[in-house]
Amino acid sequence: MKNPTEILNKLNINHSLSIEEYVLLLDNISPELMKQAAEYACNYQKQYYQNKVFIRGLVEFSNYCRNNCYYCGIRRDNRNCERYRLRPEEIIACANEGYDLGFRTVVLQGGEDFTYSDEDICYILKEIKKAHPDMVITLSIGERERASYEAYFKAGAERFLLRHETANPALYAKLHPKDLSWEHRMNCLKDLKDIGYQVGAGFMVQSPGQTNYDLAMDLKFVEEFKPDMCGIGPFISHKDTPFAKENSGTLEMTLFLISLMRLIYPQMLIPATTALGTIDPRGREKGIQAGANVLMPNLSPVSVRKKYSLYDNKICTGEEAAECINCLKGRVTSVGYEIITDPGHRVGFEKRVE
Ligand code: SAM
Ligand code: FES
Repeated sequence: MKNPTEILNKLNINHSLSIEEYVLLLDNISPELMKQAAEYACNYQKQYYQNKVFIRGLVEFSNYCRNNCYYCGIRRDNRNCERYRLRPEEIIACANEGYDLGFRTVVLQGGEDFTYSDEDICYILKEIKKAHPDMVITLSIGERERASYEAYFKAGAERFLLRHETANPALYAKLHPKDLSWEHRMNCLKDLKDIGYQVGAGFMVQSPGQTNYDLAMDLKFVEEFKPDMCGIGPFISHKDTPFAKENSGTLEMTLFLISLMRLIYPQMLIPATTALGTIDPRGREKGIQAGANVLMPNLSPVSVRKKYSLYDNKICTGEEAAECINCLKGRVTSVGYEIITDPGHRVGFEKRVE
């Protein structure tokens, strides 16, 4: 059997491995292997994105959610969650503030809150685009009908983040109640790609019951589906969920997976997530040094930040957006990179012309 270094070298050249080979890499994680993977990853990062790190302004506009995912702090049955929802005008105001701060891309994220009709979402999109035609808008509002996704696309949304959560349907069933379907989520991702969105998939690292084989399946999924972006962060327990007592994912495994994903799809956008910054004070900087190239600072009003509590001890819940950007600029410069505020498309992405 080949040794892990040989397999890593093969991935660096071929951008593809078998599931068993991915498992072998994950089973043999070590400081040396992580270092080699990060070095290869940074070569591609430099080749395609130089030392640029893109930032997207995140507006967490509602923490109402109709779903009951076992891991998530804003799940429907969490009675301790203080709920809020921003009015369309407030959401538009956050986007305007982001524009004034230099952001040319904004992510509108929320729980699955169907109080916002398709008309409401389209209204918000159109108003933002009317004021700022050069603003790229990303939606992250969960599973909806294909016709709805089409309407949002027509109204000006260009990107959609919908983490697949896990590529293994059996693990999906352990993380979610029966009324949620892995097939449906995967079909949503396919629809979004088909409609022409730049699509962001993603998964939690070391969620309860997840094995290295499951993670290898996620890597194979990235290799085959080729999302424009893939967001990963450690699972972090939340005190008011059924997974309150479960262990959180590790910094090491998350960083290693970031590097491997950069080797699998060198042009992909990979965020250094807030969850990574939560388990380690320099987690986001380390994520960038492992091959990530996107950061998503919070643009939500400070008054609601703490309430969008997906997991315990989430960082950046007290700072104004401008403070957050300055903090991030310092962090990014400290590791030799530079923050770029332009829309930050994936290298090679071409907008479909109908
Ligand atoms: N409702 C939208 C959706 O389902 O795509 C967007 C919001 S959802 C809360 C955003 C992501 O947070 C999820 O896809 C999940 O991967 C992540 N998340 C939720 N709970 C988490 C936890 N306890 N630890 C780490 N990540 C978590
Ligand atoms: Fe938000 Fe540092 S990134 S305060």
